[in-house]
Amino acid sequence: MSPSVTRVRITDLKLMKAVGEKIAMLTAYDALTARLLERAGVDVLLVGDSVGMVLLGFETTIPVTLEDMIRHTQAVVRGTRRALIVADMPFLTCHAGLEEAVRNAGRLVQQGGAHAVKVEGGGLVVKVVRRLVDAGIPVMGHLGLTPQRVHQLGGFRTQARSAEEADALLTDAAALEQAGVFAIVLEAIPSSLACRVTQAVAVPTIGIGAGPHCDGQILVTHDAVGLTDDAPSFVKRYARLAEAVVEAATSYVAEVKTGTFPAAVTRSHRGTQGRSS
Ligand code: KIV
Repeated sequence: MSPSVTRVRITDLKLMKAVGEKIAMLTAYDALTARLLERAGVDVLLVGDSVGMVLLGFETTIPVTLEDMIRHTQAVVRGTRRALIVADMPFLTCHAGLEEAVRNAGRLVQQGGAHAVKVEGGGLVVKVVRRLVDAGIPVMGHLGLTPQRVHQLGGFRTQARSAEEADALLTDAAALEQAGVFAIVLEAIPSSLACRVTQAVAVPTIGIGAGPHCDGQILVTHDAVGLTDDAPSFVKRYARLAEAVVEAATSYVAEVKTGTFPAAVTRSHRGTQGRSS
């Protein structure tokens, strides 16, 4: 029997902030990748609606449906034992009334297996957050560049640059904390503002394009490992997997065309996919 593994809990994240241990978070959309990221020691995996842009070929996250999110969340949960799994509430799933929001978040938790949901925005969304938390669903907030509002924001660009916008974001962060979020993603805001928010709230902040002062960091995994070619400028590439995949596939194509692969005599045979025998 394999040794038992304890899942990271939302309470652990608060403790990590308290003792100054940084939180490492990445996105995952499938069981295979989730398993690898967990092996690397990631604390939290986000099943982001970025799946729409990264894997499904959409230009924004707006076309992603609740059914998409449930399916990808199930896969990520199946691939993990230790990481806390947070699933994004996709476009408009928390804007058609509080009860509808509870039903939708409930499906991500009950059917998808997510341990928490992430909700974009402040302002009116705060009411929804409070209702979800009251219903027993842990919620992560998301302020700054909120991609579901890309058309209102005029594109994927840095937010809260003026003093008024910075104050409004600080107010939203405080309201989200009051409403019961267990953490807040800060996306594409000035580093100095992320630092102020991090000091102002007791819950952990998770930065993406928000500088080094947050309590944790998140990147879109496919950007970080170099699989995408349109990553934002703040992304650090830790590998160049796109080149490796193209190189491997180019060799395969060449060997198939020339008849070098497969070799004439195969001694061992592990089944069609190498997974069954
Ligand atoms: O959907 C996503 O991947 C996200 C992260 C960029 C924070 O929301």
